[in-house]
Amino acid sequence: MGCRPARTQPRGHPCVWMGMFFDDYPAFYESSRTAAFPRRLDLRHQAMIEANRDILAGARVLDLASHDGRWSFAALKAGAKHVIGVEARSSLVDHANRLFEQYGVPPESYEFRQGDMFRVLQEREFDVDVVLCLGFVYHTLRYGELFRGIADAGAKHCILDTKVLPSDEPVVRILTNRTAVQGHAAKDDLSQGGRALAGYPSVPALEVMLDVYDFDVEEQFDWAGLLTTLPEPLRAVRGYATGNRVTLRCRSRRGAA
Ligand SMILES: C[S@@+](CC[C@H](N)C(=O)[O-])C[C@H]1O[C@@H](n2cnc3c(N)ncnc32)[C@H](O)[C@@H]1O
Repeated sequence: MGCRPARTQPRGHPCVWMGMFFDDYPAFYESSRTAAFPRRLDLRHQAMIEANRDILAGARVLDLASHDGRWSFAALKAGAKHVIGVEARSSLVDHANRLFEQYGVPPESYEFRQGDMFRVLQEREFDVDVVLCLGFVYHTLRYGELFRGIADAGAKHCILDTKVLPSDEPVVRILTNRTAVQGHAAKDDLSQGGRALAGYPSVPALEVMLDVYDFDVEEQFDWAGLLTTLPEPLRAVRGYATGNRVTLRCRSRRGAA
């Protein structure tokens, strides 16, 4: 078997990347800033989607901060029945809709909702099986609203991917986000003067927050194990390698027998 086209391969070790998910859907590489580090997207796919195929199969999914729709798309390809993406920035919602059309995703299997997720979670009733909350927790301090919203959406599982503060204590490092920056917190009801409060929680802090809303961390993805399969360190996933970023699979105690 040959290798994939060179355009999306890092130089030096082409074959190790063969068969990575987004190679078949390269328009997602071009979206936003992911084109510069395509393999980061594929490795995140392994951790966030591939490792959770069992709970995504047949699931109704809510994708918070859905960006260009890449994880909604990947969830459908992993067997999800239906996906709702919520994204504050209208240009990203338009982009997601275009990409889904381009790749022929059946329109009845998805919906993108433009809006501030905190408002959407409060105003709309959801009934889903899995919530994807990927790349967002470190853009907010509104943890109570976020996790209550996820719990009230009916989620049996929540997949969280976030930067964290490496610590054994349940602590949060406070910072701010510029709401004008695309990948950052969007303007919401609590942002002020173009800034929003945000924070890097530690994993123990996340466990406390999740516990209040009846979730347990079921599994922390073994990023170190995945990264040892690479022939050389990849700068773009350094956060995962150093424990500054984690992928957690969380399970709700609600409705458990
Ligand atoms: C770092 S990106 C993560 C994108 C994607 N989920 C991922 O993990 O690759 C953060 C996303 O959150 C969106 N966002 C920020 N604040 C939001 C809010 N209040 N409601 C909905 N989306 C928001 C941004 O527009 C951006 O698309």
